[in-house]
Amino acid sequence: MPTETAATGAAALEDVQRVPGVAKPDPILVADHVSRRFGGLKAVDVEHLEIQRGTITALIGPNGAGKTTFFNLLTGFDTPNTGSWEFHADDGSATILTGMSPHAVARTGLVRTFQLTKSLTRMSVVENMRLGAPANPGESMLRALLPGTWRGYEKQIQGRVDELLVQFKLDHMRDEYAGTLSGGQRKLLEMARSLMVDPDLVCLDEPMAGVNPALTQSLLRHVVDLRDRGMTVVFVEHDMDVVREIADWVVVLAEGRVISEGPPDHIGNDPAVVEAYLGGKAAGARREVDTTGPSAARQTATDDRLRGGSPRAAPDAGPADVAPPGPTGTTDATGADGAGTHEEDDQ
Ligand SMILES: Nc1ncnc2c1ncn2[C@@H]1O[C@H](COP(=O)(O)OP(=O)(O)O)[C@@H](O)[C@H]1O
Ligand SMILES: [Mg+2]
Repeated sequence: MPTETAATGAAALEDVQRVPGVAKPDPILVADHVSRRFGGLKAVDVEHLEIQRGTITALIGPNGAGKTTFFNLLTGFDTPNTGSWEFHADDGSATILTGMSPHAVARTGLVRTFQLTKSLTRMSVVENMRLGAPANPGESMLRALLPGTWRGYEKQIQGRVDELLVQFKLDHMRDEYAGTLSGGQRKLLEMARSLMVDPDLVCLDEPMAGVNPALTQSLLRHVVDLRDRGMTVVFVEHDMDVVREIADWVVVLAEGRVISEGPPDHIGNDPAVVEAYLGGKAAGARREVDTTGPSAARQTATDDRLRGGSPRAAPDAGPADVAPPGPTGTTDATGADGAGTHEEDDQ
């Protein structure tokens, strides 16, 4: 779905070298030496990463590559062992986000959604949305003494809730318990709620996973729409068809490190990516196949692995979706969204 903004976002990256950690012309986020250990395992080990403003960046990588952990760190839901990262506002000012709480991070303009949706099932859709609102000024004593301010704020919040519910086509469900929504609608609700703070950068952790095909297209359009409204989007996705369709740039994580960066077409042909996905024996078998055909065959093989990496809604399963899972083809059951729960390794 090409749009003018898409062209602009991609155009800004045209001359950027396709190497891990490369500098971008106008980064909104710059991360340095970010690492996170769990016991002996280095889950995240990102030397340098820049995210270009106004683009959709796909963060991909085999299960366990550290994608969710990296999101957790960036958004204050987890604490790194080393590293720092900065948010660059479009006025040129930079804010160091390292060590900030999720709320403080959100106030600077960086929000995220979770791989496993976090909607509160026993609350209505509207109440869930209101939870995403920025800290309520009515809570401060001074403002409580000024009911006019309070009412103004309430009206503002309600207006924003209504606007987003219409935008995400959830307005007809506004008074339903979130628990009655389908999986896909909950993903929409979570995306909508994350926008309550009017963010500049939105990190979406597998927004499309487990969503039925009809809603997948709708979710994709919402993601593109976020960018077209001026936001920057980073999203985790396993399906290379989806990545090719909407991403301006792709960052590949493997074993915590950025092993490749570039436009979607570059990624499928990068031997480092093929190696990371196929690994060991599977790679050997695939390579034999590859010798009989052009690089397109190799790309298809990689795509198969990319697709197999995450549980997706079955109804549109093409041949690639029924390929037997390989070493990295297990479902992502790490529950790594239990962010901020680690006891060990804190600084
Ligand atoms: N809270 C945790 N405790 C221990 N290990 C964890 C925790 N969270 C994630 N991990 C491990 O860190 C690695 C990266 O996990 P994760 O960030 O969830 O990967 P991805 O999102 O790319 O699938 C995995 O090996 C996972 O098992
Ligand atoms: Mg994950």
